[in-house]
Amino acid sequence: MKKMQHYFTVCLTILFFSCSSFGQNTKEQNSITYEKKIEELLAKMTVEEKVGQMNLYNGFWDATGPVPKKGNAKTKYEHLKKGWVGAMLNVKGSDKTRELQKFAVEETRLGIPLLFGFDVIHGYKTLSPIPLAESASWDLEAIEKSARVAATEASAAGINWTFAPMVDISRDARWGRVMEGGGEDPYLGSKIAVARVKGFQGENLSAKNTIIATAKHFAAYGFIEAGKEYNTVSIGNSTLYNTVLPPFKAAKDAGVRSFMNAFNDLNGIPASTNTFLQRDILKGKWNFNGFVVSDWASINEAIFWGQAKDKKEAAYLAATAGSDMDMEGYVYIKELANLVKDGKVDETILDHAVRRILKVKFELGLFDDPYKYCNEDREKKIIGQQSHHNAVLDMAKKSIVLLKNQNQLLPLQKEGKKIALIGHLADDDNSPLGSWRLASDDHSAVTILDGMKAYKGNTLSYEKGVELYNGNPTFVTEVNINTTNRKGIQEAVETAKNADVVVMVLGEHGFQSGEGRTRTNLDLPGLQQELLEAVYKVNPNIVLVLQAGRPLAINWAKEHIPAIVMGWQLGTQTGNAIAQVLYGDYNPSGKLPMTFPRNVGQIPIYYNYKSTGRGSNTQNNVFWSHYSDVENTPLYPFGYGLSYTSFQYDNLQINKLKFSKEETIKISVDLTNMGNYDGKEVVQLYIRDKFASTVRPVKELKGFELVALKRGETKNINFELSKAELGFYNNQGTFLVEEGEFEIFVGTDSNADLKAIFELK
Ligand code: BGC
Repeated sequence: MKKMQHYFTVCLTILFFSCSSFGQNTKEQNSITYEKKIEELLAKMTVEEKVGQMNLYNGFWDATGPVPKKGNAKTKYEHLKKGWVGAMLNVKGSDKTRELQKFAVEETRLGIPLLFGFDVIHGYKTLSPIPLAESASWDLEAIEKSARVAATEASAAGINWTFAPMVDISRDARWGRVMEGGGEDPYLGSKIAVARVKGFQGENLSAKNTIIATAKHFAAYGFIEAGKEYNTVSIGNSTLYNTVLPPFKAAKDAGVRSFMNAFNDLNGIPASTNTFLQRDILKGKWNFNGFVVSDWASINEAIFWGQAKDKKEAAYLAATAGSDMDMEGYVYIKELANLVKDGKVDETILDHAVRRILKVKFELGLFDDPYKYCNEDREKKIIGQQSHHNAVLDMAKKSIVLLKNQNQLLPLQKEGKKIALIGHLADDDNSPLGSWRLASDDHSAVTILDGMKAYKGNTLSYEKGVELYNGNPTFVTEVNINTTNRKGIQEAVETAKNADVVVMVLGEHGFQSGEGRTRTNLDLPGLQQELLEAVYKVNPNIVLVLQAGRPLAINWAKEHIPAIVMGWQLGTQTGNAIAQVLYGDYNPSGKLPMTFPRNVGQIPIYYNYKSTGRGSNTQNNVFWSHYSDVENTPLYPFGYGLSYTSFQYDNLQINKLKFSKEETIKISVDLTNMGNYDGKEVVQLYIRDKFASTVRPVKELKGFELVALKRGETKNINFELSKAELGFYNNQGTFLVEEGEFEIFVGTDSNADLKAIFELK
């Protein structure tokens, strides 16, 4: 306790000085003071205590990894007592974090406070939509706010570190974790990464309601081969530098305090033992000054990759490669001190890691007040408060994408209609929570059935149709999809027969996407397609609400069903959000952050593919880049999404035709709301670098703006392009801006064809 008193005195002094200056000065001053304190502390630490700071233990239950062995909890307590634990994850509740923090602060020799990490991915208890859905809003302000709500709740529960945002770009909808990211595009993905980091970390890390964020998974996890979880990654430099790394760099520039490495290898070197990624790029070229945590036991997995022959070698490889903290791997704690004593690992490597970890603890203000996040009254008051429900509802509505609306079937009329609501998912209060919801209550989502019931002017009848799944799906097991029990189809057909409009809620269960959930088939799971077609036969007036954590291949539906709404998994307020959109109380404006394929064989399919030698069929023969059995185009392109109103683009202008590399290119376009509703449109700007020293994509998103327009209103929208948007990375990772001709395209999605040309000289 004495030691802590010492820290309190020191910190009061820091506080005193910091109060006398503002903003940047304060930050710089703090970091100078921290550095001194860190060095003093380091000088007192034994090698084992240093390794302790690099050790992250799971709370005493299983979460996303192997269950700890018997007696493990006892060992962990012993290690805590010795000061051999720097951080914990999955400890729920401010009482529990307080108890463990007290242990660290009062019972250990140096009293260094713990970090408490948690997967606060799209909310803590009150859940917003899954990240891929939020990304469909293209609304950076809303995304930041959603992360703010998540941080507010998590911090009230004792958490000071989230393992989010996942900024892995992916072009593979088979991979279950696309639900956790920002989609397929590095430009959009970078903007979203920044919004999320800002939302979690806020302006001031020492505030009680801000937590540190983690950019994960460094790097290239989104490119695992065949979308198969935990698989190998082989990508070229062009993809690495231009597609994979930019969102990480953006998160770093936004001040993210930690990075998490990954379960994959990159061209033969596992990410956790990858010196090139961690030391050369992240801590070298980018000068990242936070710390790197491993993924769950991923250091240990160097053994299974066949790179390390035992834990000792794994510890050696990871520590020297720049992994600062071992998550639940027991590798550092077991081996690292001995490696130092044997002269195999230089102690400066430990110092380098520990400095970074301690710095973040100082920044969070944990040395001032280790219990700042542990207040049970605050926890009770803040978690689940009404303003959070309002915020996640708002985010949910903004995330919905209208895919089809033939003959303006939507919005639904509010009076005098007979509506049949069909589908197991329509009455599901668990699936909409998605798969990352470790702190929320199961079965706590508003169902679509309940959301629809709030509109009382129509007659609503509900039929499940068929069971999508059997039993109660969980976070750790495969969903048991029903493929045989057709009971219920006939009832659904009978109900549909008498309805004016049929709303069918079909798709994936929330536990069909997420970690460990790769699918090789992106059709509607189970018997849902059969149900859809049976109902269609008796009443084609169908609104299909899709729920899924990834793009689905819904060819038949696209061809036959008049209205389709992409409803993802929208979190706690799912039912209200869907109902308000279906009834037109909210006009959808979401745009797809990932391409929807026609079939799995097209994957990877993405809008910013590279030019190829034979990209089009000029000779009218088979010798061009295509498939014989399906067209090259996707089912729905990146950036696509409709509104209840319609928009017209005119008058695309560039301020000049020729520019020097230093000049800013100014682009403007007129957007008019031509329909009968007020609405919002995401105006998208794409470029094509026509000739370059390395092959460039046929199109690249380089600007977007979410614009609200009253009906009949026209607005002039302006964009600027400069070096940052016009350049690219060569295969050595050098950023180049090359002279030559560029095309720009402005429009409503990645098929934008309003075009202009300029030259860079
Ligand atoms: C995931 C990480 C997550 C960690 C802790 C791992 O399985 O890959 O993204 O943060 O578990 O739960």
